Amino acid sequence: MTRIPWWRDAVVYEVYVRSFADADGNGEGDLQGIRSRLGHLRDLGVDALWLTPFYTSPLADGGYDVADYRDVDPRFGTLDDFDALVSDAHDHGLRMIVDIVPNHSSDRHRWFREALAAPPGSPARSRYIFRSGKPGERPGEEDPPNDWPSAFGGPAWTRLDDGEWYLHLYAPEQPDLNWRNPEVRHEFEDILRFWLDRGVDGFRIDVAAGLFKDESFRDLHGQDRRMLNGPMYSRPEVHDVYRRWRQILDEYDDRMAIGEVWTDGPQDLALYLRPDELHQVFQFDLQLAPWSAMAFREVIDAALKAVAPMGAAPTWVLSSHDSVRHVTRYEQPGGLPGIGHGRAKAALLLLLALPGSAYLYQGEELGLPEVTDLPDEARQDPIFKRTNGRTAGRDSCRVPLPWSGPAEPYGFSPDGVRPWLPMPRGWASVTAEAQASDPSSMLNWYREALALRRRLKDGLPDELEWIDSPDTALFFRRGPLVCALNCGENPVRLPAGIPLLTSTPLYGDLLPGNTAAWLTAP
Ligand code: GLC
Repeated sequence: MTRIPWWRDAVVYEVYVRSFADADGNGEGDLQGIRSRLGHLRDLGVDALWLTPFYTSPLADGGYDVADYRDVDPRFGTLDDFDALVSDAHDHGLRMIVDIVPNHSSDRHRWFREALAAPPGSPARSRYIFRSGKPGERPGEEDPPNDWPSAFGGPAWTRLDDGEWYLHLYAPEQPDLNWRNPEVRHEFEDILRFWLDRGVDGFRIDVAAGLFKDESFRDLHGQDRRMLNGPMYSRPEVHDVYRRWRQILDEYDDRMAIGEVWTDGPQDLALYLRPDELHQVFQFDLQLAPWSAMAFREVIDAALKAVAPMGAAPTWVLSSHDSVRHVTRYEQPGGLPGIGHGRAKAALLLLLALPGSAYLYQGEELGLPEVTDLPDEARQDPIFKRTNGRTAGRDSCRVPLPWSGPAEPYGFSPDGVRPWLPMPRGWASVTAEAQASDPSSMLNWYREALALRRRLKDGLPDELEWIDSPDTALFFRRGPLVCALNCGENPVRLPAGIPLLTSTPLYGDLLPGNTAAWLTAP
């Protein structure tokens, strides 16, 4: 029998390091904090962790601005802490995926400081993307080299005093690297090996589609800002990089890479999954879909269709450190206040019944909502600052986790320490400790569903078969397992089978509104 690689059907838990657990008492999460909470993750029943960047960084974008790719930022710990964490995670039966950020470095990276100190046209500048500006409308004024916007607001170019402009698809503190320079390629190959040699099981590749820009640097002329198939993303050259990375990963046992790839269509996405490229890409379709059985059916079909030609396994995600937490999202459309919680319970059964792997975001197992009332002065996401507060940004989903106790810091930090983002009043009942002893809590729901999935998964085929259902519901079968989800408000008749697990109690053979069930197929 051929062995199924671990990542194909893994449940991976995203740890947003800064907000997970603070062991050293500086108000920010750290590697020792994660180590001290591995028991929570083992008991939850996930297979792997994905750690967001913990590398040396001024944290202009929460660590996605890396100043040294081969070291740990002192506020998160040391390399020794990292080694101890990997070893303990493995002892707990958990694999470890780390983030790698190849599209841009921090402006404090040695290379960028050298580039600033060097003249235009110098080798130091050729590691980044420097260009001359264009004459502005008025005499003496200069415009950026083109009209590309930064994903965080404002232009994607910043001008230096000597007149050259550098490109940053994100914040100005995140200059884009020039992947046409072989030195950049070699550097990242070496960085991969550095972490592989330390025992990581995989990489999550940040902005994986962005590395190459069209050499024409043509204007967008006001077309869709994201232009996912435009001159900034998914240029053909990027695939050579991942072919090479795959060779490196294959020199080790059982290592994988998942790309953060946003594309306009499934064809572009599939290219990254060719058998000699990445193992997985994130498929954000479920996360983007509203609470609607019809919408879910469509995105599931499209997601399966996208990966099938490559023989790759799909990936599913409902929340991340970049999106609005789904408990809050599912308050809409048409929901009564509080409905998001029940819908999130039901959504978990959908997520875990689908073929492929599921990526969970820390805190969803506690049913945490967005913290929308953060004071402006507490907000740190560059999106908030660069849009002058017009866009709130992503801090609301990044509030530290409540572990125990009656008030801030809820066991996240030692008592008396103020966490880097304020934690709401009223979270005493949602702490991990409070939920552990409540059989009807979200935490226990996650544990139960994950445990059952683990028991069933080896017997489940990759294929999914739809079963007829009313429009407001979706029913499907994977071998012996039937999953039924009712997104409507009114009960629907259950498909045939014996109920195994339901997100709210059934009424006889009726599945209530906003409820999901797993059944054994007849
Ligand atoms: C990715 C990360 C996001 C970060 C951006 C720039 O989208 O998930 O958090 O801000 O890349 O690195």
